Amino acid sequence: MTPSKRSILIFGPSGKVGHAAALEANKRGANVWLAMRDPNKIIEGLSENVGFSRLQADLLQPESIKNAVKQSGADAAFVYTIWESDDHMRASFDAFKEAGISHIILLSSVSVKGSPRQEENKNNFIAQLHAETEAALEDTGIPYTAIRPAYFSSNIIQFISEIKNGKIEVAFPKARFDFIAEYDIGAVAGALITQEKGQFPREVYLYGPQLLSQQEALEILAREMGREVKITELSEGKWREKMSMLPQPLMDAFVKAGRENTPPMTDYGEQYETEKYNIQKYTGREPTTFHEWVDRQKWAFV
Ligand SMILES: NC(=O)c1ccc[n+]([C@@H]2O[C@H](COP(=O)([O-])OP(=O)(O)OC[C@H]3O[C@@H](n4cnc5c(N)ncnc54)[C@H](OP(=O)(O)O)[C@@H]3O)[C@@H](O)[C@H]2O)c1
Repeated sequence: MTPSKRSILIFGPSGKVGHAAALEANKRGANVWLAMRDPNKIIEGLSENVGFSRLQADLLQPESIKNAVKQSGADAAFVYTIWESDDHMRASFDAFKEAGISHIILLSSVSVKGSPRQEENKNNFIAQLHAETEAALEDTGIPYTAIRPAYFSSNIIQFISEIKNGKIEVAFPKARFDFIAEYDIGAVAGALITQEKGQFPREVYLYGPQLLSQQEALEILAREMGREVKITELSEGKWREKMSMLPQPLMDAFVKAGRENTPPMTDYGEQYETEKYNIQKYTGREPTTFHEWVDRQKWAFV
């Protein structure tokens, strides 16, 4: 008799990381349930006829979470940090516990250092938001893994229209980041969620394979798009004017990251050197370089 497949829940499969987590978990033999606010949403590659089941659930609605666990029979779930949550997802995590989930993979952020309760995690808005969510999950006692990725390659998408117009205005152009591919992060999540019980790391830092300045990354992307571009450095004040639609604490966090990663300053210290092999460690595959990421996404930029 063939043993039945383990069921797992992937929340946010229409998202970049969630999508890759679902594909990887399916590839590794799990029975994958896609938990979606709108289960009718079309998602390329994740249709029911290729083995994915769907159900309606919202990470801000605890009752829907309990129903999702019951309907799927899942014992593990991948979840996003939901920024809009009033209680850092406490009620949602309690619902997972009450429903019997025994492992959660939470998408967090590299800005969280060490224990989520550490004082330094109150230093900026992004770190604090993710740290408070990790702490809420820790309080439930459910075994969990917080995935803490660094700088997404997709952050560069905000410049697409400027590249098309041939003129880019950017603050901190020399700031260097690791440009991690979102689907590498999802692949790690999918690999971890399908691991046997008892082998879960508490936190996993993830980095892209190569540090590039914003300017270098923009030039690579512009070249691939076949555009000539002029890159102009914006002062912090002018950048704040340009991005005035963002909430102030978020702008402050971005400015801090830009300043602290402009040489000779860098946030990519000892931790980067020791943890940068984690994508390979958990998936068995080489991490995607920024060039490869651009090449794979190119259709979306034309
Ligand atoms: N950008 C970076 O450099 C960076 C660095 C470190 C960590 N991060 C983390 O990564 C996250 C972004 O990941 P991503 O690019 O994969 O995001 P994304 O593509 O925007 O996807 C977000 C997903 O979350 C789902 N979702 C939103 N609210 C929900 C709710 N209440 N209940 C259930 N599902 C919900 C969305 O589903 P719908 O289809 O219903 O909208 C969507 O599938 C950030 O928010 C941050 O926490 C980002």
